[in-house]
Amino acid sequence: MVLLHGTSRINDRGHLEIGGCDTVELAKRFGTPLYVFDEALLRETCREFHTAFRKTGLRYQVAYASKAFCTQAMCRLVDEEGLHLDVVSAGELHTALTAGFPPEKIHMHGNNKSREELTYALEAGIGGFVLDNFHELNLLAELTERMGRRPSVLLRLTPGVEAHTHEYIQTGQQDTKFGFDLASGQADEAAHRLTADQNLNWVGIHCHIGSQIFETEGFAIAVDRMMEFYAKAVNQWGADLRVLNVGGGFGIRYVEEDRPLPVRVYIEAIADRVKAAAHRLGVEVPEVWVEPGRRIAGPAGTTLYTVGARKEIPGVRRYISVDGGMADNPRPIIYQARYEAIIANRAREPVQELAAVAGRYCETGDMLIWDTPLARSAPGDILAVFGTGAYTYSMASNYNRTPRPAVVFAREGRADLVVRRETLDDLIRCDEIPARMKKKEGYPVS
Ligand SMILES: Cc1ncc(COP(=O)(O)O)c(C=O)c1O
Repeated sequence: MVLLHGTSRINDRGHLEIGGCDTVELAKRFGTPLYVFDEALLRETCREFHTAFRKTGLRYQVAYASKAFCTQAMCRLVDEEGLHLDVVSAGELHTALTAGFPPEKIHMHGNNKSREELTYALEAGIGGFVLDNFHELNLLAELTERMGRRPSVLLRLTPGVEAHTHEYIQTGQQDTKFGFDLASGQADEAAHRLTADQNLNWVGIHCHIGSQIFETEGFAIAVDRMMEFYAKAVNQWGADLRVLNVGGGFGIRYVEEDRPLPVRVYIEAIADRVKAAAHRLGVEVPEVWVEPGRRIAGPAGTTLYTVGARKEIPGVRRYISVDGGMADNPRPIIYQARYEAIIANRAREPVQELAAVAGRYCETGDMLIWDTPLARSAPGDILAVFGTGAYTYSMASNYNRTPRPAVVFAREGRADLVVRRETLDDLIRCDEIPARMKKKEGYPVS
């Protein structure tokens, strides 16, 4: 059964409503596909993290992982809610800075940050960097020396714990492109380099153990391993550390079987383990930082599509096609991600059919949802797919040369456009035709 989140409800007209806005009206006004965000729910989730941390008594930082969904309005909201920001590119950084996000509350991630990105971030005076590898360490040391800066840095470590949904795997060594490996001694070497470096202010360590995590044990084991390293750095190598960042990964409900934990349960478990480890290892309890992305943006987002073609293959399957798909939501084709949906203008009608929701793109694999129970729909109806706030708009493409959809924030009956729909002209904005190929007359029309 579809579970409505946040302010979503079925109104008197039998239509899905989000943030007090009738989604059928939103589709008419802004067109489809359309990403609709429940602004109150975005804010509520940000506040849940604050509340959970305040209860632990720890010093903390919650940085929204902007890779999940990054627009200028979202950066404003995150700032208004008192969160910090994690960016992974000059583009995300530029979005935040041009939205007036305080640079000192931004930290930068990435396993291959370019010289230009690091320079931009240093010039902007961001709060710090999460160092990922020796190449970056050298580059940052060189740039800070030349620019006379001393940014804070965290060392990204791979603690050998990989968590996903209900499972976690413990390995001695982790086979990933990210971070310094704990088991092989790479992390120790990086630590020695940092303690000796005059231009890099080494303040802590970081790990990110996975995504869509529904249990706390993976975090707990990672905390233990990280804290052992932390204590060694402080007690044996004299490092002046104060931060343990355990990344993101807090799960959300996409489909009925998903059982995410309340935010406070994850945070309490992490905090308890950090306190216990600090006590056992004889170090001061560090500040605990987290970087939720999906948990904040995901449940608050719903994508509206217009239903078009229908194809019935007797005894096999019923397909209904919508006007979007893998270009506005690549998660099903990349990760076989699953979603729930309803016909927004028939939200009170009983489920009458199982239908496979097909995207409009020229790929057989462009299926948004396989065989989902829906009310009987007709062309022109509006399909609402839930839980699409994270890693959809931010992963969207112009595949098949389709313009990217608009994004609106809905709140208390008011819908504000936060990203306008791309036009056909936007699609050719960066195109160039070499002079030798230009048509002499008539075309192209400029
Ligand atoms: C370093 C880091 N932090 C935070 C996140 C956010 O993860 P999630 O959206 O699952 O919370 C990611 C996601 O890939 C990440 O790589």
